[in-house]
Amino acid sequence: MKSVIGWGFIGAGGITKRVMNDFKELSDAKLVAVFSRTEANAVQLALPYGAKAYTDCEAMIRNPEVDAIYVATPHHLHMEHACLALELGKPVLCEKPFAPNAAQVRKMVEKARETGTYLMEAMWTRFFPVTRKVMQWVSDGAIGDVHYLTADFGFSAAENPQSRLFNPDMAGGSLLDVGVYAVSYASMVFGSKPIEVLSRSRSTSTGVDARMACLLEYENGQMASLFSSISTSTPQEVRIIGTKGHIEVPRFWSPREARLIIGDRLEDTIKDERIGEGFGYEFTAVHEDLRAGRKENALITLDESISVAETLDTLRAQWGLVYPFEG
Ligand SMILES: NC(=O)c1ccc[n+]([C@@H]2O[C@H](COP(=O)([O-])OP(=O)(O)OC[C@H]3O[C@@H](n4cnc5c(N)ncnc54)[C@H](OP(=O)(O)O)[C@@H]3O)[C@@H](O)[C@H]2O)c1
Repeated sequence: MKSVIGWGFIGAGGITKRVMNDFKELSDAKLVAVFSRTEANAVQLALPYGAKAYTDCEAMIRNPEVDAIYVATPHHLHMEHACLALELGKPVLCEKPFAPNAAQVRKMVEKARETGTYLMEAMWTRFFPVTRKVMQWVSDGAIGDVHYLTADFGFSAAENPQSRLFNPDMAGGSLLDVGVYAVSYASMVFGSKPIEVLSRSRSTSTGVDARMACLLEYENGQMASLFSSISTSTPQEVRIIGTKGHIEVPRFWSPREARLIIGDRLEDTIKDERIGEGFGYEFTAVHEDLRAGRKENALITLDESISVAETLDTLRAQWGLVYPFEG
């Protein structure tokens, strides 16, 4: 792998602009190409970085200067775009949710394994120093045996049927947009898939979940209580509760701080004084994997991405939420 890795971005929307603010600070990577359906969007993103703008996705991926692909289109397009890049032998970092359902995630993983090409879900939460410290506290037994986890991720958006958040054709709804962070966090802490899932949701007028709450039970009796919403602002916090103490992680999905509390005493704190949102951490993880010749990332394995997608499927099945493209 080259010393400076050339990236091609598929999509030039909201997330790519936020990512670029952090990505441009990385010394070992550069943006070399951008694909969008809309030429002006591709040009607007590419121009300041001297990258090439494309309206032909395959031509962009085939550009020999493109060493890796970042898929940042709406959820329902992730599989198509990721598989195209994998078929052409380009490593892929694909936005969360990896795909709208487990069947699509499995196809992506099969394609990566069949072509021997790197693939990773852009579950950026895993790569923050705060998250790594939280997982160290948990595995060191700092809070004893973990019995319970709570996570909420809600924000309030005006209902707009055209927006990908509300549009069923684009796999809209709170679960896939933000609930995935909570389900993935519980998967990370408990290290497995729940054996029991209980849930309720409330629908938008467009027929996707405006909000949902669920209780997940794990093999040895551990439990997680999760809430997601696109119609309610919430604290966006994780609490991990054990027999000796608990951990609080404000804004857990891109954390700047976590607190370890034993009894009612603050035992330890970790802070991340970073500048920027922190997207650089996940890109750096991909760079390390590519340089080491790894085909997936150890902190968010492909099997775990499948397992999380299966839990998301179970939840939607309980509410009868089937997207039009799922037939
Ligand atoms: N990690 C994070 O914190 C985070 C935050 C926000 C979003 N995301 C994820 O990133 C993905 C993109 O989100 P976003 O907010 O950036 O979306 P967006 O702004 O709506 O669109 C992203 C790109 O996809 C293109 N696009 C939109 N609809 C399309 C369609 N029907 N067919 C083909 N292309 C289409 C857009 O338009 P043009 O092709 O016209 O340019 C744009 O280039 C989502 O999966 C989301 O979950 C992650």
